[in-house]
Amino acid sequence: MKLRFGRRPLFSQSKHAMEQTLYYICVAGLAVYLVNQVRKPTKWVGRLFLWMMNMSHSGVTDWGVKHVSIAERFTILDVGCGGGRTIEKLAALATTGRVYGVDYAAGSVAASSAKNAQLIQAGRVEITRASVSRLPFAAEKFDLVTAVETQYYWPDLVNDMREILRVLKPGGRLIVIAESYKKGANDWLHGPAMKLVRSANLSVEEQRELFTAAGYTDIQISEQRAKGWICGVGKKPL
Ligand SMILES: C[S@@+](CC[C@H](N)C(=O)[O-])C[C@H]1O[C@@H](n2cnc3c(N)ncnc32)[C@H](O)[C@@H]1O
Repeated sequence: MKLRFGRRPLFSQSKHAMEQTLYYICVAGLAVYLVNQVRKPTKWVGRLFLWMMNMSHSGVTDWGVKHVSIAERFTILDVGCGGGRTIEKLAALATTGRVYGVDYAAGSVAASSAKNAQLIQAGRVEITRASVSRLPFAAEKFDLVTAVETQYYWPDLVNDMREILRVLKPGGRLIVIAESYKKGANDWLHGPAMKLVRSANLSVEEQRELFTAAGYTDIQISEQRAKGWICGVGKKPL
């Protein structure tokens, strides 16, 4: 007689449970791998994401950048420059200035450099591999620092924001732009993914507190509620 538990034989039930567990482990593993490739693009999967992000982050970037005024002569740094589209947009605004990009992933530096090859050749853009935690620039170099869809991944938010403050000129501004935030319209999807890779997912108030703790003044946090976008601007005191 076959041993039964409920309607299914015991052995077949445990085999089914094992298959299901294996399936969930594989899905979770794949999800972590993919989110990590967005966080630090290295392999061809990451390069594919960078190409996609150049397109999908264009709208939120255009919306966010409108929250600061950009003079033609500005020296600008884009932190976590990814596929390099923001650098290209900034160079089109700061026509007599210079735009720098940094990213800690080799894949991103390669993609950004390829995207902006002509601007690099013309001496208007420079892209370097570096972490936000240790920027390879002298103090008080930049009029503006931008950070699009990257702040979630920084290892030490307060100190990393202070490192940006160091390289800003007095009166210069940092602008942080993101397509999702805690309690925003996209949080239902983005929040769990951020948790999975232990990344920061800040609310509007937490973002304001972060800018304050890092030493910025004139802080303005703006939301595009329908789209779930957020943009934070802070100024280095004079
Ligand atoms: C989601 S992508 C966004 C890229 C680009 N800013 C955009 O809007 O398409 C995040 C980028 O931030 C970079 N990044 C993450 N943590 C970083 C860190 N600690 N220092 C420098 N770059 C970092 C990643 O390598 C990646 O290229």
